[in-house]
Amino acid sequence: MANFDLGKRDSFTSKFGVVAAAAGSAVGLGNIWRFPYVAGENGGGAFLIIYLGFIVAIGLPVMLSELTLGRMAQKNPFGTFKKLAPGKPWFLVGLMGVVAAFMILAFYSTIAGWTFEYIYNAATNAFAGKNPDELQAMFSTFQSSTFRPVLWQVIFMFLTAWIVVAGVQKGIEKYTKILMPILLVLIVVLCVRSVTLPGSAEGLAFLFQPDFSKITAGVVLEALGQAAFSLSIGMGTLITYGSYIRKDNNLGSTAAQVSAADTFIAILAGVAIFPAVFAFNIDPKAGPGLVFEVLPNIFQQMAGGYIFALLFFVLLGVAALTSSISVLEVVVAYFSEELNMKRRTATIVAAVAITFIGLACTMSWGVMADFKLFGNSVFDIFDYTTANILLPLGALLIVVFAAWFLRQQQLKAEVTNEGSLKGRLFGLYVFIIKFIAPLAIAVIFLNGLGILNF
Ligand code: TRP
Repeated sequence: MANFDLGKRDSFTSKFGVVAAAAGSAVGLGNIWRFPYVAGENGGGAFLIIYLGFIVAIGLPVMLSELTLGRMAQKNPFGTFKKLAPGKPWFLVGLMGVVAAFMILAFYSTIAGWTFEYIYNAATNAFAGKNPDELQAMFSTFQSSTFRPVLWQVIFMFLTAWIVVAGVQKGIEKYTKILMPILLVLIVVLCVRSVTLPGSAEGLAFLFQPDFSKITAGVVLEALGQAAFSLSIGMGTLITYGSYIRKDNNLGSTAAQVSAADTFIAILAGVAIFPAVFAFNIDPKAGPGLVFEVLPNIFQQMAGGYIFALLFFVLLGVAALTSSISVLEVVVAYFSEELNMKRRTATIVAAVAITFIGLACTMSWGVMADFKLFGNSVFDIFDYTTANILLPLGALLIVVFAAWFLRQQQLKAEVTNEGSLKGRLFGLYVFIIKFIAPLAIAVIFLNGLGILNF
């Protein structure tokens, strides 16, 4: 019976395909749009150091745990917990992941839509001859309007759904293998240009010189939230992808490679953006608009800026797409496996529902600008709640489940491919997921929300 299930499941075909697809999920707007603005709002260098610590000590072990659980159960996140812990309430962790997926994709598609507007702007040479103030005005006018942001969001969700309908192997794996290396090359080019701008040193100092007086409980929680968001952990995306990975894949090295690639690209994005932010006297605390206000300035200064602007925003859109697919896939896998919907129906229902919720995020600067809860717009609430609450909580419960609920033999067998890998670091991994990660997440979480106070 189990073998029949296995045979029917879509799966990745090669080792590189697995890394490309998982890195395609991890590397996205979180690296290039969110990391710079969150680091900018939270002090720069000191934030970066804490962030890096969390990637290694928490992110990587959680990622490995998710991939392992998914491959063990061969199911969507809800089904994974139901199968591995029958009759227990652990399936709620899977359900929480589905809720988080709705909220993340709702605001993610807003930003992805902005990316499309900027592809259009780049193509029509709309940045040319504009000074920094004009570029800022151009962005805020667009951001607070209704028709165009909504149109782009709908188009983006349509594309996401269109690829997800086609399945895992023929869509994501095929395209991520080509697109991820190109994205890397382009970011490197932009870094070089940004670093050679006059006045760039100040931006590099902001990113790399830690000023620990800026660290507060809130900043630590933001760093944890950003690490979780950027690695795509905490809501079952990697449980879902893990369920499509073949039994001979070395999950530990896959997790290490994906985490390293994701971190490297986030740092490169910081290097591409902060020197330019300072060179053009833009406030690093500009918030979600940071990338859209800063990069057009750089492109204007570059030889061949027209083509680089176009390529950059195209690739940013594509990076968003390879991530959004992985979020939608969680909902689709859940709908089709647990609610017995056809893949096609599941995809349409999920995408339409998410788009409707997403409209409230897109209009957070426009017609819904006055609609605030505790002083925050719908967009801010979705962004903050998912990254800083749902993902850390999900990550906590996932590692607690893997470390304390599963039999250690069972976990070891899956991580080491039934003993065919040495698994020399397995002891360290178990120690981290048993004690370090859960304790660290719990303390940061309660402290950051002000429930516990240090
Ligand atoms: N990690 C992606 C990014 O950095 C976004 C993303 C995809 C995500 N899947 C996720 C975030 C799952 C949290 C959970 O853009």
